[in-house]
Amino acid sequence: MIISVVSLNWPLFRGWMGQCMSTANGAADGQRPIQSGKAEKYLDSKTDENKAIIEGLAGAYKVLKLLGSGAEGNTYLVQDCNTNQNWAIKLIKLPLPTRFVQAIFREIKLQSELGEGHNNIITPEEVVLTSHYLGLVMEFAPGGSLTSFITQRFRECKGVGLLMPEDEALYFFKQLVNAVDYCHRHHVVHRDLKLDNTLLSGTNPPLIKLCDFGFARGWGDDSHFTTVIGTPDYMSPQITAAKAQGKALYDGTKADVWAMGVLLCVSLIGKFPFEGDSVSTMGVNDPMKKIWVQQNKSTWSNNSLLKDQLPYLSAEVMDLLDKVFELDEQKRIDVKGIKAHPWFNKAMRPELEAATAKLEADQLVNDKKVASGAYHSKRRDAAISNLIKLAASDEFRKRATEPVTEETTFQIWSRIGLRTALEAYPVFDKKSLKNMLSFTDGFKQPSIKAA
Ligand SMILES: Nc1ncnc2c1ncn2[C@@H]1O[C@H](COP(=O)(O)OP(=O)(O)O)[C@@H](O)[C@H]1O
Ligand SMILES: [Mg+2]
Repeated sequence: MIISVVSLNWPLFRGWMGQCMSTANGAADGQRPIQSGKAEKYLDSKTDENKAIIEGLAGAYKVLKLLGSGAEGNTYLVQDCNTNQNWAIKLIKLPLPTRFVQAIFREIKLQSELGEGHNNIITPEEVVLTSHYLGLVMEFAPGGSLTSFITQRFRECKGVGLLMPEDEALYFFKQLVNAVDYCHRHHVVHRDLKLDNTLLSGTNPPLIKLCDFGFARGWGDDSHFTTVIGTPDYMSPQITAAKAQGKALYDGTKADVWAMGVLLCVSLIGKFPFEGDSVSTMGVNDPMKKIWVQQNKSTWSNNSLLKDQLPYLSAEVMDLLDKVFELDEQKRIDVKGIKAHPWFNKAMRPELEAATAKLEADQLVNDKKVASGAYHSKRRDAAISNLIKLAASDEFRKRATEPVTEETTFQIWSRIGLRTALEAYPVFDKKSLKNMLSFTDGFKQPSIKAA
């Protein structure tokens, strides 16, 4: 049976000179860094949903605004009540469907293990449980997503020429490849690499911050998977083949390579490489099948929809993309090959070289910490798992489905720090909420309102 988990990519540049769409979150305004401590307009409590969010986090975080929406839930910008520091929080609404339990555990565990060890991956801070939400608090990326960044560039260049000079695209691409290489070296595939999940720091030049480990998966000896997962425009032919052949078997690391190639292509020319033209995919409505048809029809550089833009690309980057968009995944270039490719090693302008050198030096320090095993913790995993099971328990199910009132809404029930594994974590009996009240060795003491 094929398990299909597909997140739809809102078409960015459909058709040459097509409409530019910014993300639903209006992340473009995320490009203006929000200063800590400044008076901000807070989220209003007009809806029950907002009320439950604001009340649930009260005392710990003030909720500023919605940053983005996705399949699992919404991500908000919040401010720590004590330190005024900004954080992003991904809120997953309770009651938690049982089928989500494993996936959410995996997302939080993998991101906790990887985030702190690499500067280009969003670092999770803590996981919190309120009466109505499970929340993942993480480092806030004030630069918005690459989607909003390149949408702005598309407007500026009016669809003529490259969206960004090749050295700037290389500067971002290097960081993404390094982050993904880091994931692969730790036996994790991301499986949803795309512009929307590639965020930017508030620095100048901005740093890449990879987010959304919702589809990520660890592996033991074999990095092959059968689950049809990802976003159609970024899926490798081994995944889109599921629609045509009824099954998928793919090397997750090579699927990540393919997705990074799509991201690079769109960042440079503003077009998806396997966007089917209307003739070749006429009558095909399924987005995955459309991509599969185009992938198997001809090479990316023969796609008639791209032909006006290709003359702007250098021979080196064309060669790299040819090697990434190799249909046969065994022949497809791997991350190591990308890093050794001449385009990847081309000189960039001095400020981009300097920022890259600094990043690499900082990473060496991080690598030493990771080598000491500081980011793995069975105890932390057990605490996260218990908290998620608790969120899915009958008690929370009941509470979360009652109308939002003062009686049903309570502030953060429990919070577990995710940064640098701790010696001790709260261990609680998932069957009983009452036991929750008695744990004493939590990361931060929860402020508990009536239960
Ligand atoms: N740490 C963050 N900083 C800033 N914006 C974020 C952060 N995390 C998520 N977002 C915004 O929220 C959107 C959805 O978050 P994501 O983790 O990708 O959730 P989903 O799994 O629902 O796609 C992102 O595309 C981005 O615009
Ligand atoms: Mg996402």
